[in-house]
Amino acid sequence: TDRVAAGGNVAAAWAALRDEAAGCTRCPLYRPATQTVFGEGPLDAPLMFVGEQPGDQEDLAGRPFVGPAGQVFDRAIADAGIERAAAYVTNAVKHFKFEPRGRRRIHAKPDAGEIDACRWWIEQERLLLRPRMTIALGATAARSLFGRAMTIGRERGRVQTLPDGGAAWITVHPSYLLRLPDPAAKEAEYAKFVEDLKGAQAAIA
Ligand code: URA
Repeated sequence: TDRVAAGGNVAAAWAALRDEAAGCTRCPLYRPATQTVFGEGPLDAPLMFVGEQPGDQEDLAGRPFVGPAGQVFDRAIADAGIERAAAYVTNAVKHFKFEPRGRRRIHAKPDAGEIDACRWWIEQERLLLRPRMTIALGATAARSLFGRAMTIGRERGRVQTLPDGGAAWITVHPSYLLRLPDPAAKEAEYAKFVEDLKGAQAAIA
């Protein structure tokens, strides 16, 4: 296809985009953060996963979903039969937003202005990769991709159409599962999450 023929150009354009994002000052979050955490994965991946923003460990490592939420994410996609190495994984907001508490850095939710300021990057990633399915993990990713607030409980688990015509699928964020205090609820929600992920893959099979 034209994409295969243009593969070298896609790789070069993606690398240039990533390098440009490393110096991003579109919103003030870059100042206290360690580094931009850009997306990673094969550029011809059929599935693109979009999280919220890097957490403490991602900020230090420079890679998405390597901390506690990443462990839940890795287990869930594996249980859904998806290989992480075959997927492209990125975030709606590419700098860690936090509040210092003593020596710890506590995750703070990105606001609409920060999501909108960062949207340009995810749009470029999607334009370059043209994934067959973009999976929004939670409300921040959904807001970024759709450009408006979405109710996860109502919109999850079915094919959605993005403003640019691409296919998308909404599910919960893995951190949501980590925050559930009740073990039975946690297990039930985890199973629903895995079902959503299977559904997203089945939709493009
Ligand atoms: N949570 C996210 O949304 N993204 C990450 O990369 C890590 C935690």
